[in-house]
Amino acid sequence: MIREAHILIIDDEKTQAEALAESLTKTGYNCTTVLSGSEGLEIIRKDKIDIVITDLILHDLDGMVILKETKKISPETEVILITGYGSVENAVTAMQKGAATYLLKPVNIDHLRAVVDKATEKQCLVRRNMELHKELEEKFGFAGITGNSQQMHRIFHILKQISSTTATVLIVGESGTGKELIARAIHYNGPRKNNPFVALNSAAIAETLLESELFGHEKGAFTGAAYQRMGKFEYANNGTLFLDEIGDMPLSTQVKLLRFMEDGRIMRVGSNETIKTDVRIIAATNKDLGILVEEGKFREDLYFRFNVVCLRLPPLRERQEDIFLLIDTFIQEFSRKHGKKIKGITPEARKLLFHYNWPGNIRELKNCIESMIVFTMNGVLDVNNIPEHIYKNNKTALPGPVFPVGITLNEIEKELITKTLAYANGNRSETAKILGIGERTLYRKLDRYNLK
Ligand SMILES: Nc1ncnc2c1ncn2[C@@H]1O[C@H](COP(=O)(O)OP(=O)(O)OP(=O)(O)O)[C@@H](O)[C@H]1O
Ligand SMILES: [Mg+2]
Repeated sequence: MIREAHILIIDDEKTQAEALAESLTKTGYNCTTVLSGSEGLEIIRKDKIDIVITDLILHDLDGMVILKETKKISPETEVILITGYGSVENAVTAMQKGAATYLLKPVNIDHLRAVVDKATEKQCLVRRNMELHKELEEKFGFAGITGNSQQMHRIFHILKQISSTTATVLIVGESGTGKELIARAIHYNGPRKNNPFVALNSAAIAETLLESELFGHEKGAFTGAAYQRMGKFEYANNGTLFLDEIGDMPLSTQVKLLRFMEDGRIMRVGSNETIKTDVRIIAATNKDLGILVEEGKFREDLYFRFNVVCLRLPPLRERQEDIFLLIDTFIQEFSRKHGKKIKGITPEARKLLFHYNWPGNIRELKNCIESMIVFTMNGVLDVNNIPEHIYKNNKTALPGPVFPVGITLNEIEKELITKTLAYANGNRSETAKILGIGERTLYRKLDRYNLK
C-alpha cells in the first residue's frame, strides 16, 4: 500500500472535511481539503491528485459533475463519493459512471481507510500495468529500430503509413535483417497494440502439426488429439498473427489460409463448423515468393493477397552507413545487460566491422558486439575481441570503389574520401578514423580537393 498518495477532500461541511482529512493524515496519506466543488476542480486541474473524496451534494456543484470532470482531466484518479441514505441510488449510478465506490454518512473512519487503501492499491496496479505497456512499446516501437540510412528512413515512412491500418503486410529480407522486429513494431504502433501479437514459424513446425497449430483441433480429430485445442488464429483474435517463414508453408495449409483471407473464417481440424475471427496477418520470408510461385510451391492467389503491402528490408551491407549507429546502440544495450563499463571501441575495430560483409546481418553484428563486450578485459573493444570468423573474413570481403587503370592517385584519394564521408554521414572525425588519418590531415585534404 502506498502512503504518499495525494487525496483531495471536497466537502462544504467544514467539520466533516477536517475530520476525514485528520483520520487519513494519521494513516500517512497526504490530504488537501476544500469547501467547494469549483475549488476542488481547480486543484484537480493543477495538481496530481490520486484520490478525490467528494460529497455528492455540494452547494455549488453536483458530485456527479466532479466525477465526470475528474475522469476527463485525469482518468486514473479514483473518485469516492459520500452520500446520505436518501441518495444511494445516485451513488450507484455514479459507480456505473466510473466512481470507485461510495460511503454512507456518517462516515465510519475504519471503513473510509479500508476503501482508500483499496483504491490506492488498485491505482498502483493500473500504473504498473501502464508502465509495462510503455516498456513494451519502447522495446517494440519505432524507437527500438535503429537506422539512419536513406533505406531505413523509407521504411520508417512506410511503417507510419501502414501501422494505423489493419492491412496485411509481407516483410521480405535476408536472415537477421529485422523482420520480426519490424512486425512487432507494426503491431505495437497500431490500433491493435493492446491485443495479442502471436507468432508462428511455418518452418519450425512439422507439416502434420502445422494446421492444428494454426487452426486448432477438435477432440479425436487425429491420433493423439485427446482434447479440443485452440489454434493461433483464435489466440490472436482482435490482434495480430505473425506468420514467419511463410515460404515454407505447405500448399495444403496455404489453401486454408487463403480461405481465411477471403472471409475471415477458419475451421478447426476435425470440425466442419466455421469460426469467425478478426486477425491481422503480417507475414515474413527470406525467400523470393515470386520464384516459389513459378516453381509451383506457393499459390499465386495467396501471393497476390500478401503482396499488397510489401516491405523489403535491405541487407546490412547495402546500408553500411548504419553500421556505426548500430554498433553504438548495441554497446549501450549490452554494457547495461552485462553490467560492464565500456569506454568505447577502437578505430581499428570499427573499421574492420565496417568493412565486413555481414551475411547474418544485424543479428550477426549484435552477437558480435555482445561477444566483444563479454571478452574485453579493459572496457575498450578492440580488434582482438572480434570473433575469429569475422576477423578472418574481413579483408576478403572489402567492398568499396573500383578504380580503373588510368586514374591518378590523387583522384583515387579524392574518391575514397568522398565515399567515406558519405558512409559516415558527413561526420569528419568518424571519416578520419576510418581512413586511419588525423582529423587535421583530413581537413587539409578536404581543402585541397575542394570537398568542403
Ligand atoms: N534496425 C534494427 N535496430 C536494432 N536492432 C535490430 C534492428 N533490426 C534487427 N535488430 C535486432 O537483430 C536481431 C535479429 O532481428 P529479427 O529476429 O527481427 O530478424 P529476422 O529478419 O526475423 O531474422 P530471421 O530471418 O533469421 O528470422 C534481433 O535481436 C533484433 O532485435
Ligand atoms: Mg525472424
